[in-house]
Amino acid sequence: MTRGAREFIGPITFEAVTGRPVHTEIFGPGHALDHIRLAREANVVVVAPATADFVGRAAHGLADDLLTACLLAATSKVLLVPAMNDRMWSHAQTKRNVEHARSLGYEILEPAEGPLAVGEGSGPGRMPEPDEIMSRVGRLLESKSSLKGKKVIVTAGATREPIDPVRFISNHSSGKMGVALARAAWRRGAEVTLIVGHVDIPLPSEILTLKTETVKEMARAVAEQLLAADVLIMAAAPADFRPATVAPEKIKKGKAAPKIVLEPAEDILRSTISRRKKASVIVGFALETTDGIRNAKEKLKSKELDFVVLNDAKEAGAGFGVDTNRVTVITRDGKEEELELMSKIDLAEILLDRVERELNGR
Ligand code: CTP
Repeated sequence: MTRGAREFIGPITFEAVTGRPVHTEIFGPGHALDHIRLAREANVVVVAPATADFVGRAAHGLADDLLTACLLAATSKVLLVPAMNDRMWSHAQTKRNVEHARSLGYEILEPAEGPLAVGEGSGPGRMPEPDEIMSRVGRLLESKSSLKGKKVIVTAGATREPIDPVRFISNHSSGKMGVALARAAWRRGAEVTLIVGHVDIPLPSEILTLKTETVKEMARAVAEQLLAADVLIMAAAPADFRPATVAPEKIKKGKAAPKIVLEPAEDILRSTISRRKKASVIVGFALETTDGIRNAKEKLKSKELDFVVLNDAKEAGAGFGVDTNRVTVITRDGKEEELELMSKIDLAEILLDRVERELNGR
């Protein structure tokens, strides 16, 4: 903790909350080589929040406190997360310092837009959410940048097909699997586009995300992105049917219940086959309640997939809404591999390993 940080929160509070020792001093008995030792131990150094003053001192190589001295001694990756008043952030000197810090190899996570302290209104300067900072740290720590230079599209969540201005047809997809896949691909260095319908979880702000509502919109977004994509992972649950007509006004409660006529919605995977780049890897999911393997194999063929990830909608701990999944991966050559129950985050890594193996084999 720097002197500035200690003006806000006492080191004892920090130590109690984290259960970790807090280092503050560069001088004094017993601290002589702290900056060297800490710098050597670090896999990554994160300064969050980094004040305008700190960015300036770091950019100029000053080493007048423990943290700046650590930075100079560190050989690991460094992430600075500037947070300050928006006018201080826009100052030419701050910009110069940030650019200088970048040129030294420091990663900068730009501040978020939003309400600032002391009634200063809204603007760029807020520290990004911890989740986003952790995600960036994950990318820095990832030892492999195995998907660098690859464009990966991931779809996630449920589409909504309107019945009238207030009602829609949808499904229980939460988007968890798709978002886990998008994050994992991003950490591996890919250029990721996440195309979402309705999702129940926070979206990763570091990933380019296109929001869609209906199957039609999602299909258009996939079609546009697909031409340049190396990988498409269709983890979304787009509707199969939609109301044939959308009532322009809210359907009133009459005597008899209204009949809603449905029409088939376009199948996104199938309707975009001709737009796939040669040698791209296409992954589909199959959510089944009966006859899983047979149905999944049928989907693999008709949707021309490289592999299909089968999950059983009725199994506890798998499928919609939960944090875990148990799947069987079926490849084009008919190989079936049953994976154990695991978190969607772990499963995302395994699936991406497969995707990479496919990509590298071409
Ligand atoms: N899918 C799609 N477009 C749709 C519906 C599904 O591209 N309109 C994709 C899903 O994202 C998934 C795969 O197709 O990757 C299989 O989805 P699933 O709902 O299991 O199968 P369906 O093809 O919809 O067939 P059914 O509902 O008859 O099982």
